[in-house]
Amino acid sequence: MAMVCLSDFEAYAKKYLPKIAWDFFAAGADECSTRDENILAYKRIHFRPRMLRDVSVMDTRTKLLGTEISFPVGIAPTGFHQLAWPDGEKSTARAANAMNTCYIASTYSTCTLEEISAAAPGGFRWFQLYIHRNRAVSQQLVQRAEALGFQGLVLTADLPYTGKRRDDVRNGFRLPPHMKLKNLEGAFEGDDCSEYGLPPNSLDPSVTWNDIYWLQSLTRLPIIIKGILTKEDAELAVRHGAQGIIVSNHGGRQLDGGPATIDALIEVVEAVQGRIEVYLDGGIRKGSDVLKALALGAKCVFIGRPALWGLAYKGEEGLQDVLKILHDEFRLSMALAGCASVSEIGRHLVQFSKL
Ligand code: FNR
Repeated sequence: MAMVCLSDFEAYAKKYLPKIAWDFFAAGADECSTRDENILAYKRIHFRPRMLRDVSVMDTRTKLLGTEISFPVGIAPTGFHQLAWPDGEKSTARAANAMNTCYIASTYSTCTLEEISAAAPGGFRWFQLYIHRNRAVSQQLVQRAEALGFQGLVLTADLPYTGKRRDDVRNGFRLPPHMKLKNLEGAFEGDDCSEYGLPPNSLDPSVTWNDIYWLQSLTRLPIIIKGILTKEDAELAVRHGAQGIIVSNHGGRQLDGGPATIDALIEVVEAVQGRIEVYLDGGIRKGSDVLKALALGAKCVFIGRPALWGLAYKGEEGLQDVLKILHDEFRLSMALAGCASVSEIGRHLVQFSKL
């Protein structure tokens, strides 16, 4: 099977993954409107391409908080990579490193942070944190990540409780017994780990903006807040000293009925006024989607499900294929829109369909 675009990897994953794993990856909350809207919204945005602009030499590089990456696409944090490929997050770390981009490792990884670091020494990685009721567990994770050379701390803000994903409920989704949430092993010993391999209600729903000060007291890592969708919260993130925002609705897995992330990006970018970096995830499936997000002010985007499809196809190699295709498509879209380097991408490149 020729793998030409990201949908080919999606089709492969759907065909070959066990149904319960496919359903878990694909799931959105409730009726999945927000999940689907993340993708549909790109179709309402059109380019205003410029011509005759010498695109013979192309430069897709950019920087995330000062660190250079080969192109503005990183790997969003997703849990349970061993459901897609036996080597799990180790393969993800190797692929991201080979493609010289950023990998955000999830709290819910099925490999330890130490294994992830050792798989791709020197790779550019951030650590994604869910704050648990047992604060000592979260504190220890943050400090472990910093000691291992992770370069940023991504606080996920949109999951005080897990959204209702109907297929997971129907399937009675649980991690297979041979897979573990390796970074939390021992933390909940003896508890009934029925919810995604954790005791029910282990996350702390009382987290507020003030907890950013708590995190700042634990670590010198830059803090990036993931899950922001409004100008009000964007302003609060800046005021609380976050260094970055990821505009995200968790791939439509949390509150159903919220906006597509590409639509929310506009008000967040306007509110932030360049004071901190703004990134986006959700619905990125083509190089032209990346170009639209950058035109609307994102510094970089991250892919969630497409990375899992790549892993399901051929582990590290499959994920590299996904990233290479996105890189090639992005470079081509840039050139056809008349941009030879990322710095030439701007708001002038897009317009919204009147339909
Ligand atoms: C996620 N996401 C997520 N986010 C997070 O902060 N920590 C996590 O552990 C997870 N786990 C997770 C698992 C799976 C299977 C999915 C699909 C998503 C959300 C993720 O980081 C990201 O916001 C979305 O996946 C982006 O949307 P796309 O690229 O999947 O459309």
